[in-house]
Amino acid sequence: MEHHSILYKLVVFFTLILLSCDASVDHRRAYIIHMDGSVKPAPFPDSESWHTSILSSLSSSTGEEAPATHLYTYNHVIQGFSAVLTLGQLEQIKLVSGHLATYPDSYGKLHTTHTPQFLGLGTGSGLWPASNYGNGMIIGMIDTGIWPESESFKDDAMPPVPERWKGTCVNGTDFNSSMCNKKLIGAKFFSKGLKQAGINISNTDDYNSPRDYEGHGSHTSSTAAGSPVFTASYFGYAPGLAIGMAPKAHIAMYKVLFAADTWDSAATDVLAGMDQAITDGVDLMSLSLGFFKTPYYDDIVAMGAFAALEKGIFVSCSAGNGGPHAYTVINGAPWLTSVGAGTIDREFVATVNLGNGAKIIRGQSLYPESLFVSNVSLYHGPGNTSKETCGSLSLDPKEVAGKIVFCMPTEDDDLYSQIDEVSRVEAAGAIFTTNFGKFLFPKDYSIPFVTVSLSKGEVIKNYISRAAEMAAVSITFIETELGTKPAPQAAYFSSRGPSRISPGILKPDILAPGINVLAAWAPNRAFTPVGDDYLVTDYALVSGTSMASPHIIGIAAMIKSVHRDWSSAAIRSAMMTTADIVDNTGNSIIDMSSGTAGSPLEYGAGHINPNKAMDPGLVYDITVQDYIDFLCGLNYTSPQIGMITRRSNYTCTRANLDLNYPSFMVIINNTNTTTGTFKRVLTNVGSSGSSYRAAVRVPAGMKVAVEPQTLTFTGLNSTQQFSIKVDIDLTKSTGPKSEYLGNYGYLSWYEIGGKHVVTSPIVSAFAP
Ligand SMILES: *[C@@H]1O[C@H](CO)[C@@H](O)[C@H](O)[C@H]1NC(C)=O
Ligand SMILES: *[C@@H]1O[C@H](CO)[C@@H](O)[C@H](O)[C@H]1NC(C)=O
Ligand SMILES: *[C@@H]1O[C@H](CO)[C@@H](O)[C@H](O)[C@H]1NC(C)=O
Ligand SMILES: *[C@@H]1O[C@H](CO)[C@@H](O)[C@H](O)[C@H]1NC(C)=O
Ligand SMILES: *[C@@H]1O[C@H](CO)[C@@H](O)[C@H](O)[C@H]1NC(C)=O
Ligand SMILES: *[C@@H]1O[C@H](CO)[C@@H](O)[C@H](O)[C@H]1NC(C)=O
Ligand SMILES: *[C@@H]1O[C@H](CO)[C@@H](O)[C@H](O)[C@H]1NC(C)=O
Ligand SMILES: *[C@@H]1O[C@H](CO)[C@@H](O)[C@H](O)[C@H]1NC(C)=O
Ligand SMILES: *[C@@H]1O[C@H](CO)[C@@H](O)[C@H](O)[C@H]1NC(C)=O
Ligand SMILES: *[C@@H]1O[C@H](CO)[C@@H](O)[C@H](O)[C@H]1NC(C)=O
Repeated sequence: MEHHSILYKLVVFFTLILLSCDASVDHRRAYIIHMDGSVKPAPFPDSESWHTSILSSLSSSTGEEAPATHLYTYNHVIQGFSAVLTLGQLEQIKLVSGHLATYPDSYGKLHTTHTPQFLGLGTGSGLWPASNYGNGMIIGMIDTGIWPESESFKDDAMPPVPERWKGTCVNGTDFNSSMCNKKLIGAKFFSKGLKQAGINISNTDDYNSPRDYEGHGSHTSSTAAGSPVFTASYFGYAPGLAIGMAPKAHIAMYKVLFAADTWDSAATDVLAGMDQAITDGVDLMSLSLGFFKTPYYDDIVAMGAFAALEKGIFVSCSAGNGGPHAYTVINGAPWLTSVGAGTIDREFVATVNLGNGAKIIRGQSLYPESLFVSNVSLYHGPGNTSKETCGSLSLDPKEVAGKIVFCMPTEDDDLYSQIDEVSRVEAAGAIFTTNFGKFLFPKDYSIPFVTVSLSKGEVIKNYISRAAEMAAVSITFIETELGTKPAPQAAYFSSRGPSRISPGILKPDILAPGINVLAAWAPNRAFTPVGDDYLVTDYALVSGTSMASPHIIGIAAMIKSVHRDWSSAAIRSAMMTTADIVDNTGNSIIDMSSGTAGSPLEYGAGHINPNKAMDPGLVYDITVQDYIDFLCGLNYTSPQIGMITRRSNYTCTRANLDLNYPSFMVIINNTNTTTGTFKRVLTNVGSSGSSYRAAVRVPAGMKVAVEPQTLTFTGLNSTQQFSIKVDIDLTKSTGPKSEYLGNYGYLSWYEIGGKHVVTSPIVSAFAP
């Protein structure tokens, strides 16, 4: 791929995958130990005393070895605990009665205003007023901590802390429990696992407290539920009202990610944060982090989310930043909502005025300083379209001093080396001709420059060749353009489906804003380089699926506050079946990495439409038992299922991979023709009786039969079943759109004489 170097650089920065650790610290290391809670001897009043007793028996019998150290006892997320063991103790613990399995701890690295308007949220009607802005809901954020003084966490218009809330705020480095208020109602941090791995948190710059060093947790929290801030901007870009999705919801921060040289988090700590959130009584939980794609019995996010599900807690997770290739989605367990990232209809612009108003051209820039380049000499970098255009060491500092350098694309489109070269010679600024301006991050604008498209670059080139020595330019920075088209597009970095662990369930589920989202930041953190300096900001533009998940959690909080009795599956179904499958030009959502039409492998059921999600008409509901039947269908062993469900009294008599999911996935394995059959149950969530008629939109090479074609519901909660048969014949298809996509279509149930439309994608994809 031509632009590989640029994509690679951008993708790496926001990758949140947690890496396995293979280095052990003097043969003692942390483990997560799954126990069968039902065999706890009666004398022990609680699990923790049982676990510590097991550990002390190990220590005493191993003589000279260091004693085993207890880290956390988990009350919800798993049955079991974490502890630091020697290899000898590890062997012994496997013989203890009730032991199910032990996994070594793993460690990892961390990889708005306007978004409410883009999503159609307004004060006049729709989900905002209907839910009273998420009034009273409690959102648990599992993240890097929070900056409590941020304007976004002021509690002026907040309702009182709900009486059912059991959480608290703790003291710590630069953090006082009195900093919590009616917005930030809980703040804790979990670092035992990380410290055990030899990471001295007080030795890094991070705070040994819930305070946010990174900025990431303040950003995600304010996106989900930030209070309104009327004058936020990023150095003048994206100015206006900064407000969370659910501005009247409460926030509880569970800090599990720390800035450190090697690893940022430990699985034992993430599990402890999720466990505490469940104990405290959150209504929803958002995680913008992820682990390697492992089976669900070895995936702590999947296990924690399963425990949350049983308590009625809605969990959403970032799908990962591993795109644009297929099978890169992480956090793909069917009982949580996996969120991909999309663009919004906003661009940051600089106006280029050639000569004396001879030609006005708009390009893209996020240069953070207020600067007006006025009638400055415009210098054509050496080379026209050859590979050395503004390449390394091609410019002469004397020749370009005080001038704006104009550059055409290099052969391999290495924009970064062009930026470095213009920066080296200290020219007044630059105009780069490139198709990849949209892939730049705010931090890349360390010198004043504008990127322009290839066609606009030709116009500038022609102007320079005509004007010769006299070529001059004026540039105005810090302009924001709204309503740009097409939007949304699926972000190039957003992880694509199918899920490697269970390909038969379409993932990601849904798309939400995740590019250049403006939200609160740690105001003492060097954010963007300018020349040799760094600038700080209290509101930052940041990109990643990390930014998408908090949009969904805020919207889910509002839906939950309107529909208190809906299950997590019902809330997700409402969002999926009402999602937008076209962009603001009415065409298919574009995949930003290819610039052509994307597919549900990028955007799942589509782009979130909050107002419609409030009133979906019908939902596809799923019970805890259905998920257990699904685990049985995956052929997991009894102990493996026990680790996820934390119970041993289930039976696998109804193994079934066909969950009542609001999407349909057919996996094609080395054939041209395949048939998928599905059974579904729809539940009426409208108050009155209603009838729906099925309609399908399918491409050549896909045939869909729905039986029956009309469903009649008597009233609230009435259910109806249907079955669907999908025949794929790729020889009749117009050709796969991407490496792993077969083809795709849609099934919609139209309410007869009503307004509801309940739409699901039908997708065929190749086996991994
Ligand atoms: C935090 O410290 C203050 C005194 O500095 C104390 O009043 C408060 O109770 C402490 N909070 C907690 C949760 O320990
Ligand atoms: C925490 O805040 C309380 C109340 O504002 C104050 O009395 C106390 O001194 C603070 N403690 C610390 C350690 O800063
Ligand atoms: C961690 O670093 C701090 C500051 O350098 C130091 O005071 C402390 O002793 C260190 N702790 C450990 C356990 O090494
Ligand atoms: C721009 O600068 C050139 C030379 O420096 C000068 O001749 C010209 O009058 C200037 N134009 C304007 C509009 O200031
Ligand atoms: C650019 O192309 C023009 C003709 O198209 C030529 O006159 C000029 O010398 C070229 N410049 C460089 C730096 O190669
Ligand atoms: C509908 O189902 C929900 C969830 O099971 C339940 O809480 C509610 O009471 C039911 N309503 C009626 C009218 O049956
Ligand atoms: C589970 O095992 C059954 C019977 O051996 C087999 O038919 C099925 O394909 C397996 N399912 C999976 C997901 O491996
Ligand atoms: C299985 O055990 C769990 C707790 O371990 C309990 O809540 C549930 O009711 C039990 N189910 C059956 C069918 O016994
Ligand atoms: C695909 O088919 C091959 C052989 O036909 C089989 O080995 C493999 O397990 C199948 N994969 C899936 C995902 O069904
Ligand atoms: C699928 O169809 C193509 C084109 O008709 C053919 O070349 C190919 O051999 C077929 N593959 C299989 C596995 O039948």
